[in-house]
This record gives sequence, C-alpha cells and structure tokens, in this order.
Amino acid sequence: MADFIDFIQQVKRANDIVDVIGSYIEVKQRGQNHWARCPFHGEKTPSFSISRKGQFYKCFGCGESGDVITFVEKYESCSMMEALEILAKRVNMKMPETAMQKQDSQLDAKRKLREKHLEILKATAVFYYKNLYAPQGKHALDYLHKRGFSAETIKRFGFGYSPNQEMLPSYLQKNGYSLADCVSAGVLQQSARGTYFDALFGRLIVPIFDINNKVIAFGGRALSEQQAKYGKYKNTSETPLFVKNRNLYGINVAKQQKQQANLPHVLVVEGYMDVIALYQAGVMQSVASMGTSLTEQQAKLISRLSDTVYICYDGDAAGQKATIRGMDILAKEGLDVKVMSVPDNQDPDEYVKKHGVDAFNNLLQQALPLADYKLKVLEQAFPLTGNQAQRNSNLAKYVKGAVIMLQQLDDVAQARYVTVVSKITGYSEEYLRRKLAQGQASAVIEQPTYDSTSSYDKALNYILACLLNNMPFAHLTQVPDTDKRFYSVMFNYVLDCQAKGQAPSVDMMFTLCPEADDGLHQAILQPQFSEETLQSDQAYYQDCVNYVEETRLKNQRNQLNAQLKTATDEQATQIIQQIQQLNEKLNKLNG
Ligand code: GTP
Ligand code: MN
Repeated sequence: MADFIDFIQQVKRANDIVDVIGSYIEVKQRGQNHWARCPFHGEKTPSFSISRKGQFYKCFGCGESGDVITFVEKYESCSMMEALEILAKRVNMKMPETAMQKQDSQLDAKRKLREKHLEILKATAVFYYKNLYAPQGKHALDYLHKRGFSAETIKRFGFGYSPNQEMLPSYLQKNGYSLADCVSAGVLQQSARGTYFDALFGRLIVPIFDINNKVIAFGGRALSEQQAKYGKYKNTSETPLFVKNRNLYGINVAKQQKQQANLPHVLVVEGYMDVIALYQAGVMQSVASMGTSLTEQQAKLISRLSDTVYICYDGDAAGQKATIRGMDILAKEGLDVKVMSVPDNQDPDEYVKKHGVDAFNNLLQQALPLADYKLKVLEQAFPLTGNQAQRNSNLAKYVKGAVIMLQQLDDVAQARYVTVVSKITGYSEEYLRRKLAQGQASAVIEQPTYDSTSSYDKALNYILACLLNNMPFAHLTQVPDTDKRFYSVMFNYVLDCQAKGQAPSVDMMFTLCPEADDGLHQAILQPQFSEETLQSDQAYYQDCVNYVEETRLKNQRNQLNAQLKTATDEQATQIIQQIQQLNEKLNKLNG
C-alpha cells in the first residue's frame, strides 16, 4: 500500500495541477493564483482558483475543492483509479500491474471482512434485543414506556439493552466469533489489560441501520445521571461499515416508506428519538443526522429518496448556523430545501408528543424555502428597525448578505428574489443586479463561514495546516487524541513524512481522505501564512498545541478517575500518584 501511495505521489508530482486543468478549461493568471470559470457550477465570472504552490483548486462560488486527481475524477465523472490512469498516461507513466492487482485482492478481502462484520453486528443486535425483554432489562423498557413509546414502536426500531460489560463478549465467543473480529466490527473494546468488554453496557441500545436495513452500529443512551456524565449517547466506534457522517439514522425506514407508499419529501431532524417519535405519530419519512452537521454524502443519500427535503433543527443561534450550512450542502446536491422551525426550542419528539401530529404538520406547511429562511436569519442579525443611524448601518450589512445569498441562486430564483430584496430594503432592482454582476469572487470571499466545529477541532485544523504547509516552527511529536479518521490519517501521514525526512504536502489530504467533510478540507486550506505574520502564526500555533496537550492530559485524568471507582486500595494508590503527576503537568502547561 505504501508503494501505491508513493506511486500516486509520483503521478501527482509529474502532473502540475495548473497545466492539467488548463488542458480542460481556460485558465488565467491573476496575482499569485490562477483562475478559471468553475466547471462544476454555472458561472459567468471566474471564482475557481488554482494554487500552483499548494497543488489544489478551490471554488469560492460553489465550495468545491480538491487536488489534480479529484479534478479529473469530477470532470470526467470517473473513479479515482481511472483518474489516476488518465494522469499517468498523460505523462507516459505505466500503472503498476501489481498495484492494480493488490487493489483488487484488497477489495476482495474488504468485502469478506464486511460480511463478517455485518454478521457480528446482527448477532449483537439480537443479543441486545433479547436482553431488553429479560428481567435485567426491565428498567430500560420502563424508560421507553415512560417516554411514550408503544410496544410496537419499540419492537419496530429494535431497541435493546446491555446488562453488563462481560455478557456480550462471552455471548459472541460462544456463537463462534473471534473477539478480535468483534473489536474491528466496533461492538467490543479491549482494555489495557487485554480483556474484552462492551462499552455500551448499562445503556439503552438503539441499533443504527444502513439504507439496506442492515445493522451497522449502535447508539447507547444513558439511563442514569451517572452514565450521562460520560455522554448522553455513546456510539460503537467508527468502522468501515459505520462512518457516522456518511449515514443517516432512519434512512432504512424512509426507504421502505418510499417503496410501500410514496415519499413526498424527506425530513431531516437531529436525534434518534425524534425519528422514532415522529414515526409513531405517523410521520414516516424522517431521518436523523445524529448530532453532526450534514455532509455531502448524506445529501447524496437523501437525494436517492426524494428531491425535496425539509430540515428541522433547533431554532437557537448555533442551530441556525448549522442549519444554513446543512441547507447549502443539500441545495448543492440539487435538492429543493425547506426549513421548518419548531417553537420554544422544542425538539420534534417533544413537540409531537405535546401538540399532536396535526400541529406538527401545520409547522411543516409553514416551512420556508431556503432563500426566505436566509433572509429571515439576516433580518434577525441586522434588524431593519430602530433609529435612522442604526437602520442605515444594518441596511448596508443586510444588503451585503442578501447579495451573497442571491449569488447562490439559479437565474430564475435570482430574478424573483431580486424583487423581494428590493422591496424589503428599498434598494432598486438595478442596483442589486449591478452588485450581482460585479466580481462574484470578491463578494463571496467575504461570505461568513458557517462553521460549527468544536474549538478542539479548530486547534487541530490549525496545527495540521501549519504542518502541511511546512511552517518552520511546526513539528509533530505524537498524533493528538481524536476519534475522527481524517485527523488520525493526516497526522500519521505527517509523522511518516517526518520520519522519512520528506516534506508533507497539503494536497495529499484529498488523496488520503477524499471522503472527509468538505468543510474540513476547506478549514485546512484556510489559513494564509506569510513572512510578516510568522511570529503571530507561531504564537497561535503554540496556543493550539498547548490546548491539545491539555485536552490529552485531561482525558487521561478522566480515565484514571473512572478507574479509581473500581480500583483496589493498592491500585488506588498508584492511580492517585499518576493523577498527581498529570496535575503537575497540567499546572506547568497553564503556568
Ligand atoms: P433524547 O435526549 O433521548 O431525546 O435524544 P435525542 O435523540 O433527542 O438527542 P439530541 O437531540 O439531544 O441529540 C441529537 C443526536 O446527537 C442524538 O440522537 C445522537 O445521535 C447525538 N448525540 C447527542 N448527544 C450525544 C453524545 O453525548 N455523544 C454522541 N456520540 N452523540 C450524541
Ligand atoms: Mn430529544
């Protein structure tokens, strides 16, 4: 595999991205970058920029970005391997036969492993299910009844219960599965001492299905305050089968609904329980994004079922940002997007139980189209009321935001909303059209980024950006704590390069992690480094590194504290010593 990645790197080095793209479309140089009219979305002025230095492209209009391989992939609508072949041919390089064969046999092995994982997940689901109806599961079942779920609903969604840490491993072993396979399937974990355990023990189990109705993972809901301290929900770990941001909870039910009846639209909600409560109330086409912001893969999944999507998230400010980001991604997939708001920050589960399904359907009727929703959010941010001075200052900001919104619309919708915005603001339609025509790229660069990543991930993004841009002050000593594949792959890549004495290269993230959320790729490309800001860049880098280290130490301390609860006196003394050492390190970091 390492050979194959080397091969990819050679092909990429021999194929300069500006030359390759230039062979497909017209490219012009402006300043340091090269520009073209984006081939992936219709536009009149070029907002598609290509960096020769970084060997990547990025469109400020539609948000597409990637490296030379993804460009060919998208332009030629072909697979990654085919794109690689085209590029290799272009520079008279031969695809290594062995690499191709290796890929094939790897595919075969992958398929076999997948089958095995599916079997293990199914067996595990049966185990959990049975336990919910056994005496040990009574309080979990009572909890579901108390939340108003009927016996039928509980069965339909396959809820389960895990009584303790040890029962699942011994059950799986008795059924002939190797414990190592169970770990790679995500259902078991191995402790430092080497024993296998069920990390979801004591929790209410929600099986997660893929679109073909196969169990691919589990969510475990805390049933006590104590458990909730370690997360209200816990998931089985991410596996090849279960990549959280590629799947949608409830997609199997929506698909069945489409096959049996018709599916006028898909409704996106936040949580498992929302999907289930809505189903019980007779709304059978909802899916949950499981608490993360929507990705392109999820949008594609939805577009396989319907071309209209309603999005129903929290009405609070943070929710709005996430909502807008999610909506843009859905719209980019060609979906007709509407946003519904549930009053008083209730989630659909609470709302439908309190007010009934008719009231919920009324809210659905009142959902706003994407453009209207964005105007509403703008108006909340910049109210066009108050005294003259306030109004004027808000008006300018409102118009700026509205123009950005208008730019994302197709011609027909644009014409319609120019009239709407003109009426709201009093600016003439001609003025707005002129603004629209003026350098699209420059207006869009000022677009607020609807970023909902955590501050921890932001720190990781910055550190990674510095490393991948070979900033002189950046050096990696260990891979930071993370449960995201993107970070572990990319930081390991950097470590690998450092060990080989090679300079890492930012475009490799498109090769190594093509499936990562596009927003993540963007975040790594965002920081603009220059000579003048070197000192402040370095200072900020150090802050990020300290923050990541602090988090790592705190994670360790949390683990030790958890161990302390079940430790013998002898173990406890040791653990306390370790905690004290961690505290000292933490103090040093902060002092
Ligand atoms: P209830 O509180 O039981 O009604 O759950 P919910 O489904 O309404 O969840 P909520 O709206 O609080 O969160 C939305 C989704 O985010 C959940 O369904 C989970 O998929 C996910 N989520 C929430 N909390 C956590 C957590 O602590 N850890 C993880 N891994 N996921 C979580
Ligand atoms: Mn809820």
